[in-house]
Amino acid sequence: MFASVLFQVIMNILLLGSGGRECALAWKLSQSSHLHNLWIAPGNAGTAQYGSNVAIPENDFEAIRQLVIDNDINMIVVGPEAPLAAGIVDFFKKEPAISHIGIIGPSEHGAMLESSKDFAKGFMLRNNIPTAGYKTFTIADIPAAHDFIDSMHPPYVLKADGLAQGKGVVICDNADEAKQTLAEMLKNKKFGKASERVVIEEFLRGIELSIFVLTDGVNYLLLPAAKDYKRIGDDDTGLNTGGMGAVSPVNFADEVFMKKVEERILKPTILGIQKENIDYKGFIFFGLMNCNGDPYVIEYNVRLGDPETEAIIPRIENDFVEMFQKTLSGKLHEARIEISEKYAVTVILASGGYPGDYEKGFEINGFEKIKEALIFHAGTKKSDAGSILTNGGRVMAVTALGETLELCREYVYNEIEKIHFQGVYYRKDIGKDLLHFQPLE
Ligand code: AMP
Ligand code: GLY
Repeated sequence: MFASVLFQVIMNILLLGSGGRECALAWKLSQSSHLHNLWIAPGNAGTAQYGSNVAIPENDFEAIRQLVIDNDINMIVVGPEAPLAAGIVDFFKKEPAISHIGIIGPSEHGAMLESSKDFAKGFMLRNNIPTAGYKTFTIADIPAAHDFIDSMHPPYVLKADGLAQGKGVVICDNADEAKQTLAEMLKNKKFGKASERVVIEEFLRGIELSIFVLTDGVNYLLLPAAKDYKRIGDDDTGLNTGGMGAVSPVNFADEVFMKKVEERILKPTILGIQKENIDYKGFIFFGLMNCNGDPYVIEYNVRLGDPETEAIIPRIENDFVEMFQKTLSGKLHEARIEISEKYAVTVILASGGYPGDYEKGFEINGFEKIKEALIFHAGTKKSDAGSILTNGGRVMAVTALGETLELCREYVYNEIEKIHFQGVYYRKDIGKDLLHFQPLE
């Protein structure tokens, strides 16, 4: 006992990001006995409860470097994809003064699994990982792209190659619409540089789920699965959003299905990372489609999902600092994931008008009355007078844990009633579709 206390490593940690995902990560990191100080850049009003917010944008590497040196920070946990895609890991590795700082997140090369759809598809092809058939086109190949569209069956899936804030995927019902969308992407640069290349792929029919692993590049820990609700309206209607709610576990991801996921997708992905010499110590998020019981990869992300994180982190019983230390030292095989059997349901409270235009700056009241749920702030800020104001489209994530999905839904929706701000909007059906789910054949 004495020895373990004596040798316990205490860390100063910097967490990058400002959403509900980062609030959940900050909450979890703050519970670790290995944490000394936590900084969050830039954070939100919620993360400030668990550490010190610093007003530095997550992609200002020079300012981050200075913060790390000035505060003797030992580890950086990267929440969103942008700093990873911009090469924060490589930036730190290059400089002797900071090259020893451990970063949870892949190198720029690894981040291409998210920042280039074409790279991700090529990686899957090379490593025999099931995904929709595809071809990639540039402005020079429009006639070939039209031939490809004509050879396919509708609907057609067109994806901007680069990062497009989750908006780069367009699903078209007929060939004319697909060709028009292609022209908008390639010729009119609908998504800027991100759509200089376009992946056209087969449409996969099935039910989606999100799978997460933490990897040291060789070993991996399988984290709880989650289902995300992306559309703004109940029953999956209306515009796509960043995500309006999440449920974990996913009851159709049974043992048989998960075995296929491990053998056909997770293991080949980690092996591919090794074979292709990709420096990767961080999370991988597999967006999967369950097509009649067979898993296919829709996309890779090189980070945790939001709002899935707000549903899965409360179910993970491990000490996150310990898990991250093992990740950085390449000893993840020594860790065992401990997951609570409870269900979790997360509902996002959004600003009225989101994902279109919305106003900010409304006072949020009542959340201090919440007893049966966890609150993770997303778009919030503290006013000079100390009240909490809305400051984004997705304002807060409310998560309830319970023995059953029914109970979680009851708790979370009862608690949400207590929270008020002008124009508050949330989906009423999170998890409803899974209540009586019959597993796929
Ligand atoms: P992504 O940005 O790649 O996650 O795509 C956004 C959404 O488009 C996904 O969550 C799916 O709902 C849908 N999607 C993407 N690719 C396909 C596909 N090949 N077949 C069917 N739906 C897809
Ligand atoms: N919830 C989906 C994402 O984080 O991309």
